[in-house]
Amino acid sequence: MAFPPQFLDELRSRVGLADLIGRRVKLTRKGREFTGLCPFHNEKTPSFSVSEEKGFFHCFGCGAHGDIFGFIMRIENLEFPEAVQRLADDAGLIVPKTSPKEREFATQKANLLKVMEQACRYFEESLRSPVGREGFNYFKERGLDNSTIEKFRLGFAPDNRGGLKARLLSPSISEVQLIDCGLLIKPEDPARRDQTSYDRFRGRVTFPITDGRGEVIAFGARTLGHTQPKYINSPETSLFSKGSVLYGLEKAWLACREEKRVIVTEGYMDVIALDQEGIKASVAPLGTALTEKQISLLWRMSPEPILCFDGDEAGIRAAKRAAERALPLLKPGYSLRFVNLPAGEDPDTLIKGRGGEYLEELLNNARPLDNIIWDLETVGIDLDTPERLAGLESRLETHARSIVDGKVQFQYRDLFRERLRTLKFQERKKKYRSRSGSKKIEKWAQDDNNMNRLRHGNIGTDPKTSVPNPFSIPLAAPEVLIQRREQAIIAALVNHWDLIDEFAETIGMLDFVDGKLDSLRKEILTFYTSEPGNKIEHLHEYLKERGFEVLLQKLLTPQVYTHAGFARSESEVGMVRKGISEMIDGIFQERQRLELAEAEKSYALEPTEENWQVLQACLMSVHQKSRTNFEEGLSEGKTISDPHDSKGIK
Ligand code: UTP
Ligand code: MN
Repeated sequence: MAFPPQFLDELRSRVGLADLIGRRVKLTRKGREFTGLCPFHNEKTPSFSVSEEKGFFHCFGCGAHGDIFGFIMRIENLEFPEAVQRLADDAGLIVPKTSPKEREFATQKANLLKVMEQACRYFEESLRSPVGREGFNYFKERGLDNSTIEKFRLGFAPDNRGGLKARLLSPSISEVQLIDCGLLIKPEDPARRDQTSYDRFRGRVTFPITDGRGEVIAFGARTLGHTQPKYINSPETSLFSKGSVLYGLEKAWLACREEKRVIVTEGYMDVIALDQEGIKASVAPLGTALTEKQISLLWRMSPEPILCFDGDEAGIRAAKRAAERALPLLKPGYSLRFVNLPAGEDPDTLIKGRGGEYLEELLNNARPLDNIIWDLETVGIDLDTPERLAGLESRLETHARSIVDGKVQFQYRDLFRERLRTLKFQERKKKYRSRSGSKKIEKWAQDDNNMNRLRHGNIGTDPKTSVPNPFSIPLAAPEVLIQRREQAIIAALVNHWDLIDEFAETIGMLDFVDGKLDSLRKEILTFYTSEPGNKIEHLHEYLKERGFEVLLQKLLTPQVYTHAGFARSESEVGMVRKGISEMIDGIFQERQRLELAEAEKSYALEPTEENWQVLQACLMSVHQKSRTNFEEGLSEGKTISDPHDSKGIK
């Protein structure tokens, strides 16, 4: 609706800005201007100034800025035309309508609001009369006290087809108006056209839905029993469009500045229960996913509204929908946060069952939007191959792309890239861990003594056995150490070919650092998997044919055996098995140390969040590894095999 500029100017001059603001904010004159505490954010020293001359207010704290209309829009949560109407009413001016049609429409709307108000009173009265006893008891059973019932103007629609109609139909309220308000249903079926209209809400408790000013524009009505649907709501009318309204908006609007947040729940009863618990800044959409309009309403109350969803699958789906809906709308400083409630609970049941403090705790731990998107795409999804990681990358890319604001989009891309890198790293760690003894870690952890030592922080050194702390071991030529272990493994396997069945799989994943040895490893595995018979004599022949004879001879020498006695052909098989396992574990451990050193270096050079996370992941796995060895040492009653001690391979 367009307003003639002269009219707006007249309104500006009639309504003094300082006067208007002075009714809500204590203003002090400072020269030509006024200052005071900003009503739009919390502050202790005034940064809010009003210039009557210039005709606008400005807050140097939060940036709020505007003229009389802007002020009313903000403070009363009104749209521009509503603000104009409100100021005109106060100033005793009649808002000129650009067309007679618009004028008529405005009058009609105003009249429908009056009808809705009458209906609300009728339901409220019914609740308190004998016919509404059932409804009243229902609210009581749900723990509502009288003041709450009054505050939310809860009511009861008697179980009869013409109660409301009989009460409201009058010379000043027509049947058409009642139908237009959605209070009466007129059968549309031509065969039933002559049938009379009848009450929409029957035998249900009622929840009036108001606009930002607190005027009743619709009703929700709940069954007292288990009839379906549980709630019926007003249809879309000229007053009510459910996607642009939030239940509880008006009171949340008044409370959000003090509570410094706004909570979004799923249902009427949640908003009411929260209010009774003292949490006033809460709202609910009307049984649908949040709309764009609703999100922007929420952002006028708080930069990061907190959405509460049921922890079950439907709730997770709803969170996903809300997150995806919000992405395109994000702007610098504005987002959503998410609380996952325990499965099957809503804020109402949670408060009753576990108390407000528990809910507070959940609210304080609400998770940011980026987290939700990340989880959506990663939780429960295998990401252990390059293809799967690439799939994740492109899904994240799609999400980031949907953000319209350039700055926010940039930050999301950056964050996702960083997390992807960390994730990739963790996936690799996981692979290593699963190859080398996670069972042992579990077993180790089950021992209370070990856990106690861990808790008291002396995990690395056991006083009895003086196990060295892995963090204090100096790293000397780690590649050489790895190479020696690789040699020992091959020698031991060739000398004890029966063990190949046990170790083939692990060795298949090892990737030796020594290139020649690695080729030999691959040949041995190829022989193992492809040669029928799998006889040791044939292995020698096979390797000879492929030019590995010399290398093999070098391995089967005292040079190797001095440092890996178990690898000799005459060693007892149990010892060989144990020896090979230790060598394999040692290789993984050495690699982890290399990675740790690398990560430490990266972090020292560039102390970014990403590098920090990588470093943490490295520390974790080195730590777990040290536990494994520690456990072995304890159970055998001797020290762990330290690659640097004299018994190691040189
Ligand atoms: P819920 O069933 O979670 O509402 O539906 P609730 O408030 O927790 O219900 P009770 O009274 O405690 O059992 C969430 C919202 O979805 C809409 C309503 O707005 C409701 O508050 N809804 C739900 C409907 O519109 N129709 C329905 O049949 C059910
Ligand atoms: Mn509920």
